[in-house]
Amino acid sequence: MNTREMFAKAVDGGYAIPAFNFNNMEQLQAIIKACAETKSPVILQVSSGARKYANQTLLRYMAEGAVEYAKELGWEHPQICLHLDHGDTFELCKSCVDFGFSSVMIDGSSLPYEENIALTKKVVEYAHQYDVTVEAELGVLAGVEDDVVAEESHYTKPEEVIDFATRTGCDSLAISIGTSHGAYKFKPEQCTRDPKTGKLVPPPLAFDVLEEVEKKLPGFPIVLHGSSSVPQEYVDIINTHGGNLPDAVGIPEDQLRKAAKSAVCKINIDSDSRLAFTAAVRKVLAEKPGEFDPRKYCGPARDEMVKLYKHKIIEVLGSDGKAE
Ligand code: G3H
Ligand code: 13P
Ligand code: ZN
Repeated sequence: MNTREMFAKAVDGGYAIPAFNFNNMEQLQAIIKACAETKSPVILQVSSGARKYANQTLLRYMAEGAVEYAKELGWEHPQICLHLDHGDTFELCKSCVDFGFSSVMIDGSSLPYEENIALTKKVVEYAHQYDVTVEAELGVLAGVEDDVVAEESHYTKPEEVIDFATRTGCDSLAISIGTSHGAYKFKPEQCTRDPKTGKLVPPPLAFDVLEEVEKKLPGFPIVLHGSSSVPQEYVDIINTHGGNLPDAVGIPEDQLRKAAKSAVCKINIDSDSRLAFTAAVRKVLAEKPGEFDPRKYCGPARDEMVKLYKHKIIEVLGSDGKAE
């Protein structure tokens, strides 16, 4: 399904739909299991990196298989959307529309304003012919957005959102309020340090910008990218089992919970799943150096991801029970 109905209900209900990236079978199984067990709608996201890694055709049919798997797990009416994450050209978005994706993102956030509008509008005009919904982005997130590197974040300008949404016809809008991609969301100099644990304490998100955007576009679906929380227990397991992730820091979950209750109705999480996977794999391999059957370390990694996704759904997004 596309995102239209999912978002309308989420905005009304004061919760957010999880948007989880997947690149392999174990991630997809974990996402579906977590959503089936909690009856949460879900957006399965495919990035350009995922397309290169796993092959777009394979990913598309894996997502189709996931719907059947969800039913096998006893989820009678699965609500699953297959979404292109960070599409950067019209051609890429078109190919995903033609190929059966139910939603696409056109990320023109690195372009000058008018060029972002023109590109987004072109994608919307094409996608809407096939009832495929379109996410756009206004404002620039810090960090790495696929191949787009933004040195500094530029918060979304609330005074632009009405013009942008009206002229493009986009169905949802990703905004920049201080989140960013990856496991290093803030530089140490942007944070304070907890004297007890020595861990970084990040600065708060710009909720004033979010509120302004909501005032300008009441009821319009807003999206947050870069919303991993970088759980420190995973960072610690990784670092004590041969890894090296110094000063990895994410967005505190209480801030995401607050955002989910507002017009934010899609929250993107990828890095946390990578951390859960890596922590579990490192632990098994460190404790059982003789192990060489991938199922013996990918299995525990999958179990850990199920736990993580359920936690996000129930404790952060509030989307449990919304797709009975
Ligand atoms: O927004 C970026 C997503 O986390 C996807 O990352 O390009 O490494 O697949 P990726
Ligand atoms: P994280 O890196 O914070 O998980 O963000 C993922 C994302 O925004 C995918 O589009
Ligand atoms: Zn993103």
